[in-house]
Amino acid sequence: MESTNNDVIAIALPKGRLLPHVLALFKGMGITCLQGFADSRRLIYEDPYRCLQFLTLKPADIPTYVEHGAADMGIVGKDQLLEQRRDVYEPLDLRFGACRLVVAEPAELHKKDDPYSWSHLRLATKYPNLAEAYFSSKGIQAEIITLNGSLELAPLVGLAERIVDLVETGQTLKENGLVEVEEIAKSTARLIVNRASLKTKYRRVQALIEQMRKQVEAQAERARA
Ligand code: PRP
Repeated sequence: MESTNNDVIAIALPKGRLLPHVLALFKGMGITCLQGFADSRRLIYEDPYRCLQFLTLKPADIPTYVEHGAADMGIVGKDQLLEQRRDVYEPLDLRFGACRLVVAEPAELHKKDDPYSWSHLRLATKYPNLAEAYFSSKGIQAEIITLNGSLELAPLVGLAERIVDLVETGQTLKENGLVEVEEIAKSTARLIVNRASLKTKYRRVQALIEQMRKQVEAQAERARA
């Protein structure tokens, strides 16, 4: 299906850890309307010359906006895509925001723990679907407590024995006396696209994907140099 150059493309951007990388990506593409984005409470930014609209969202909500077409495209961690299994097109690994989803437990428990003997666990996580799938594939019964943040606190106050959470530098685990026991998945930031937008705004969407692909490759090239 054809699209006109005037079609506005709405792009959902994640608040939080991925944001500095995302802003650098768009800056590299010559998009300057996002200056001040990181410090502002505004939820929509516009680049009228390029017919682009940027929405600022919590990372966990981005797949929902893109699946329903409230945003044509979005940037979100693979962790959220694996957890939510939304019906979106995922054309590009943006390669930044690398982290891992792991099982962690207090260092004291770790000293006497044997993961091969696990049959029943009580754990806290923001990723109940991934945790459930991982443990049930190993024949382990998991009692899952779903939380929205500061997961590392749960074992310290007896809410759960273990957590399933993202680790980037390992600093948060370390500062809270927790150690990693097993890795469940790896994650990097991904570009996602609404399936209908891919057809109805084909040219503009493809052009943006290619621009981002070039930026990612140029960045990888610079990192190798
Ligand atoms: C994430 C994650 C860990 C932390 C890991 O939380 O859930 O808590 O980052 O990072 P590190 O290995 O570099 O220390 P985030 O900061 O996004 O906030 P949250 O705890 O509110 O979810």
